[in-house]
Amino acid sequence: MAFNVLISDPLSEEGIQVLNQQDGIHYELATDLTPEALLKKISKVDALLVRSQTQVTRKLIEAAENLKIIGRAGVGVDNIDLNAATERGIIVVNAPNGNTNSAAEHTMAMLMALSRKIPQAYYSLKHQQWDRKKYVGVELKNKTLGIIGLGRIGAEVAYRAKGQRMNIMAYDPFLTKEKADHLGIGYGTVQDVLKEADFITLHTPLLKETKHLLNEEAFEQMKPGVQIINCARGGIIDEAALYEAIVSGKVAGAALDVFEEEPFHDNKLLELSEVFATPHLGASTVEAQENVAVDVCQDVIRFLTGGIVQNP
Ligand code: MLT
Repeated sequence: MAFNVLISDPLSEEGIQVLNQQDGIHYELATDLTPEALLKKISKVDALLVRSQTQVTRKLIEAAENLKIIGRAGVGVDNIDLNAATERGIIVVNAPNGNTNSAAEHTMAMLMALSRKIPQAYYSLKHQQWDRKKYVGVELKNKTLGIIGLGRIGAEVAYRAKGQRMNIMAYDPFLTKEKADHLGIGYGTVQDVLKEADFITLHTPLLKETKHLLNEEAFEQMKPGVQIINCARGGIIDEAALYEAIVSGKVAGAALDVFEEEPFHDNKLLELSEVFATPHLGASTVEAQENVAVDVCQDVIRFLTGGIVQNP
């Protein structure tokens, strides 16, 4: 049997090799399609492979007469209308493991850059200013890192932050005392984390329960001078509330990799000198992109050839 696979976001070559090695797979790499062009193509497609850019909407799914499986090369599936896929009997698979290290490392890079104001100091130096007083940072040692969401990435962040001799206070609905003890960390409710942390990092998916988890009320509960890192999903933070919390002086700084709207050309938060950002680069390493591409392509092939998928 032959299957048509459409790859609508950039995918690492190693993943494409997996497709090449399988008989009966015809793939097309078309990464700059407009939503209209994608809509036109989708009716002949058996499997759709995406990262986070392609919006797999209900309209697209309803037009996808032959679509059997959607593969997400990455963790978050918030760009896919899961209800619409389920209603049509289309299976959605992701690659939950391959970018864990990269996302945790990016979080640590953001945390360390934030505590020492490295992006701001570099920017100032680039503009010919030698200013040592303005860029006094704080040590991480003995500070409390609040981790909201202690899944794969959150746990890797905890492990690394302990290496910086930080105290960890975590919240996760599935966190057990055994896991916390094993990691050697403290745990409590979201409110406990908000109240005790000097730095707060988010590692939850974007769900209706986590949308605007950090809102005006949450910022009010935090310690004055708290600093925020978000390498998870935009939308977990209410950006307007974060803006106000920084302007009021409650939040001393924020390092953001993800945003409520992506991509953006203009975001008010970036007008603030306390904020620095990267354009959703948490999983953008050679290793992570190879891993997730291979994992998702293998799962799609397993499914199309009658096997059992590993990451539904
Ligand atoms: C993920 O969900 O895997 C990451 O945010 C990376 C990405 O979207 O490509």
